[in-house]
Amino acid sequence: MTDQQALLATTTSAVRAIIDEKVAELVAAGTARPKVGLVPTMGALHDGHGALFEQARAENDLVIASIFVNPLQFDQPEDYEHYPRDLEADLELVTEYGGDIVFAPSTQHMYPGFPDAPHIRVSAGQMGQMFEGASRPGHFDGVCTVVAKLWNILMPPPPAVFRSYFGRKDAQQLAIVTRMAKDLNIDVKIRPVELVRAPSGLALSSRNVRLDDHGMEKALGLSKALHFLSDQATRGEPLDISAARDMIRAHEDVDLDYLEIVDPDTLTPLTEEQLAAPLEREALALVAAWVPPVRLIDNMLLSP
Ligand code: PAF
Repeated sequence: MTDQQALLATTTSAVRAIIDEKVAELVAAGTARPKVGLVPTMGALHDGHGALFEQARAENDLVIASIFVNPLQFDQPEDYEHYPRDLEADLELVTEYGGDIVFAPSTQHMYPGFPDAPHIRVSAGQMGQMFEGASRPGHFDGVCTVVAKLWNILMPPPPAVFRSYFGRKDAQQLAIVTRMAKDLNIDVKIRPVELVRAPSGLALSSRNVRLDDHGMEKALGLSKALHFLSDQATRGEPLDISAARDMIRAHEDVDLDYLEIVDPDTLTPLTEEQLAAPLEREALALVAAWVPPVRLIDNMLLSP
């Protein structure tokens, strides 16, 4: 299902009717288990989203995009107010990226009675309070609440299978939504989409444009430190996290927020003993640092 303008729905009943109809058409045309992929977004689409859609398009019969600026995940009201919104441009991009359906509800449709609602929200627990969550209280609870609602609204009827796409760039978000699906028995398969790096190693981010040449060079400390740890892991050596931290701090105006190696399923930091022994299973290195004038995050899976 491509080459057509993506269909826009702004209400739950309208989007469900479209999904039901498309799934029935696929079944009638002989697809025993239609595959439906969801790319949840907050709009303001750019090429960074392209990779999510590309993978979703390649792996599914039907691709849904949700566009909703979720007030629950902003800790600063002014960030929420100033968040860019351009539904027309986003619709065109979803069509260009091969999406079939766009679900773009209003705030009142998603949260009737907002800001006094929703009364019941999902808690990301401990996993939402560390790392990025430490400086953004409530952010991951807001992400979990909206993602759970989107899954409930957009989950296709049987015999279709449902997949939801998240970038590895936001490793903590990916770990948390994966855990939520598991802990709450939600029948959705999480599909991670690889992080894209520049040839220099720098993780692509819309913030990179604010770095001058000197800033770019300093920013490279993050990916160099991650590669250093990844090489140690592959060689079965102890993971020298202090040396990796020093690589990032090599430039004096770079302010390292955190560099930790964690369990990818729970985000619990590895103990000193685990770091000193060869890795037994995959681990995740997470880093965030201020490289003036921007705050950058990056991460890498470390394989034994
Ligand atoms: O990653 C995002 O853009 C948002 O956190 C998400 C997953 C769309 C939820 O609002």
